[in-house]
Amino acid sequence: MFYVSHVFCCLNRREPGHPRGCCADKGAESLRDYLKDRVKTLNLPKVRINAAGCLDRCELGPCIVIYPEGTWYTCRNQEDADEIIDTHLVKGGRVERLLLPGSD
Ligand code: FES
Repeated sequence: MFYVSHVFCCLNRREPGHPRGCCADKGAESLRDYLKDRVKTLNLPKVRINAAGCLDRCELGPCIVIYPEGTWYTCRNQEDADEIIDTHLVKGGRVERLLLPGSD
């Protein structure tokens, strides 16, 4: 088996002033980089951090979705990222405070 968890991070960037905004304007790229670094440092070889295009929940971003669970989170800063890694990816739980509506 290769990866067990795939974390898709929206990195979509829109032109300034777009009514929906975009995750890139909210720091999505640096948060993706931080997630990658932490997963590597913590030696979680079954977790893959992937870049994604728009996940269509732009107003709630930066958005990530974790499969196979189909769990959606907003991940706004490094504290959020650390909690998602520890609670969800390491311990198999859910970070209730960061869940987006419609998570399985
Ligand atoms: S721009 Fe990230 S969900 Fe649409």
